[in-house]
Amino acid sequence: SRTFRIAPSILSADFARLGEEVRHVIDAGADWIHFDVMDNHYVPNLTFGPMVCQALRKHAVRADGTAVPIDVHLMVQPVDALATAFAKSGADIVTFHPDASTHVDRTLQLIKAEGVQAGLVFNPAAPVDVLEWVIDKVDVVLLMSVNPGFGGQSFIDSTLRKAEKVRKIIDASGRDIRLEIDGGIKVDNIRRVADAGADTFVAGSAIFGQPSYKAVIDAMRAELAR
Ligand code: DX5
Ligand code: ZN
Repeated sequence: SRTFRIAPSILSADFARLGEEVRHVIDAGADWIHFDVMDNHYVPNLTFGPMVCQALRKHAVRADGTAVPIDVHLMVQPVDALATAFAKSGADIVTFHPDASTHVDRTLQLIKAEGVQAGLVFNPAAPVDVLEWVIDKVDVVLLMSVNPGFGGQSFIDSTLRKAEKVRKIIDASGRDIRLEIDGGIKVDNIRRVADAGADTFVAGSAIFGQPSYKAVIDAMRAELAR
């Protein structure tokens, strides 16, 4: 059976207390920390860069000292310089939007050359055809279930069909590739998203918008277990 991962997006955390928020959500059961990088060019919002990732690296640890993967989602254009900078700044996974990169295969190679996992992100209306040509270099496929740029938007249902399609592509590849979904994931829809083939779930407002992060993550896991 698949191992599910929950990746809270710190986009919805308190930016004045990011280190504490990362520790708190890890204590609450987070598997990955999802780090949304926005540049006010590829998306109409602005967040944080490699220096903030580097500063958070030491906070992204469990009580026993083991590191929790930092999953960097680049919503930037151009991609290459920042992809490399994040790979050198404590990121464990770097994903980017292929439509933001001039040379997708090159960008994947740049990330992997740093010893970091690489992934492609597809917007709700974006085709996934490019996977056919680079699947051997991809460790994560991230499907956006909202238009990128903001937390707290509602889940776009066509993502479920896209997830089913990508699940088949991944299984046919025989490679160990995570299928991650990002945007509008809540306790009440996470099971449907898993049924469509996803194994990794980003959730921002659903977790950071509640007083008990653990209650939300536990409820999500209970849904995934049923
Ligand atoms: C949107 C970001 C998402 C966002 C998800 O551009 O990529 O990671 O934080 O937030 P929610 O879970 O609130 O939709
Ligand atoms: Zn994201």
